[in-house]
Amino acid sequence: MCGIVGYVGDEECATLLVDGLRKLEYRGYDSAGVAVLGKEGLSVVRAKGKLANLEKRLGEQTPRGMTGIGHTRWATHGKPSDENAHPHKYGGVAVVHNGIIENHLELKETLARAGHKFASETDTEIFAHLIADEEKSGKTLPDAVRGALAKVKGTYALAVMSERSPEMLVVAKNASPLVLGLGETCNFVASDVPAILAHTRDVIFLEEGDFAVITKKGVQLTDRAGNKLARAVRRIDWTPTMAEKNGHKHFMHKEIHEQARALTDTIRGRASVEEGDVYLDGCKLDAKTVAGLNKVHVVACGTSWHASLTGKLMIETLARMPVEVDLASEFRYRQPLVDSRTLCVAVSQSGETADTLGSFREAKSRGARGLAICNVVGSAIAREAEDVLYTHAGPEIGVASTKAFTTQLAAFFLLAVRLGRLRGTLDAPTARKHLEALRELPMLVERTLKHEAEIQQAAYKFSASRDLLFLGRGPQFPVALEGALKLKEISYIHAEGYAAGEMKHGPIALIDENMPVMVLAPRESETEPGVNYEKILGNIQEVKARGGRVIAICSEGDTMVPDLAECAIAIPQTNALLQPIISVIPTQLFSYHVADHRGTDVDQPRNLAKSVTVE
Ligand code: F6R
Repeated sequence: MCGIVGYVGDEECATLLVDGLRKLEYRGYDSAGVAVLGKEGLSVVRAKGKLANLEKRLGEQTPRGMTGIGHTRWATHGKPSDENAHPHKYGGVAVVHNGIIENHLELKETLARAGHKFASETDTEIFAHLIADEEKSGKTLPDAVRGALAKVKGTYALAVMSERSPEMLVVAKNASPLVLGLGETCNFVASDVPAILAHTRDVIFLEEGDFAVITKKGVQLTDRAGNKLARAVRRIDWTPTMAEKNGHKHFMHKEIHEQARALTDTIRGRASVEEGDVYLDGCKLDAKTVAGLNKVHVVACGTSWHASLTGKLMIETLARMPVEVDLASEFRYRQPLVDSRTLCVAVSQSGETADTLGSFREAKSRGARGLAICNVVGSAIAREAEDVLYTHAGPEIGVASTKAFTTQLAAFFLLAVRLGRLRGTLDAPTARKHLEALRELPMLVERTLKHEAEIQQAAYKFSASRDLLFLGRGPQFPVALEGALKLKEISYIHAEGYAAGEMKHGPIALIDENMPVMVLAPRESETEPGVNYEKILGNIQEVKARGGRVIAICSEGDTMVPDLAECAIAIPQTNALLQPIISVIPTQLFSYHVADHRGTDVDQPRNLAKSVTVE
């Protein structure tokens, strides 16, 4: 939530900052601003709404200067407005901030009593006031920032500059992410790597409590008390073009179409069909460690939580280990039953979701071993894990998660096979069959994407609906949840995902000709339709008997489901546990085309942000 970018060097930086903010707009987009320090002092330009509004304003008055900070906001304190947009300026100091200052009201009152006047409703503005006061008492900028930080309680990624210390940025991190970018004659700070990728691939991820002074000559890292710190410089292998649209109308569309490549990258070098085993780089789990575990406890939010529900089926089926899956926001505050015999798996695309990170820490503090399934390399959750399974999906920019979901499923499958092999519940020939199916997946994904035109037609047909129900059973139930989430978040149509067997316990009351039902009804194997398939045929009949309209996702070659449905999309069949990776694709494309047809902002839906770094 909220994107920060900062630069110190020998180039005019206003445009460079805006280019960086464009790569961070997925983090929040209700207002944006830049502050630039040059010969004429500190200039701040801000605008409510999308970045385009800021660009328009900058076109009219581009501030000059070679030191600057920029921000794109997701409101927590104070409505989206020009005044509440960052940077906030006071007494020659400008600040941008991501996080929440819990004692800001108290601090504001004290400052107001001393004569300070506030120009915004934000918690962030107090930083500018506190730092300016500290500087006036004779402190250097780094010491003034330290002084201010000693007074605040809360979370922050903070970047500060001051007219009294030109050519310098001071940054600090507590719970919200910050990364430093190292250039030849310039240096950067940002909330996330894509903002600075066009300039450098050498980065330092800041840890909790880190404090840095950035000049064009270098970066000085200390803790808040001023003790020197050494942090590893990492080289990022994402290219800048990976964060571009490449001719697609939206990032979401591009990312849906990238899934075959993304899955290949998740699986590459890890699945050995010949040996019937899996090699997980970054995971130190061995037979002895696994023998000491008696359960897996997964924590995640949103789409990652849906992937985890399928992950549970995979691990329970292949490794015969009990798995609990919790919404991270529920796990943290309920005295969870977790101990040193638990493997806690945190699943997160961004690796920085506050609730997931908080739950992961809670589980680890109770003795659990921590394994992270993350996409963003070096992210907070990955850094705190004993074992990391990166999904290698590449940058996901569309706010609605797509390739993150399918690659998380592939990562879970790899983990399940590995645990099964280590525990002896999966023999090599069976593992081989599973891994063969996994290896074929990218090809099946490509084949599924070829159905886009039909799916688009179905989407247009139902795009005026007010509500939509998604039904699935067994491994398809989490897909129903995910399909409903995707549709509501980008099209604003109310949608519910349900276990099809639960329909008769309530939701069936909603069924009529105005409530279309998308049914996930693939067969479960080449040879046998499977019990979930047979049962869901019955559910389709129940919907039809009540005048409901059915959109079905079924297997290629199936004739029963298409006979019953108003629209049927036939998809390739695979192993039942892997089938969700295929069957989710039509739901993603359906939601995308409904939303695009309705003219919503697909990549940046209202009220949402890509990384939820506040609780
Ligand atoms: C939905 C979506 C969100 C995220 C959730 C967790 O499309 O993107 O529900 O899945 O905010 O985010 P991560 O996976 O980054 O922890």
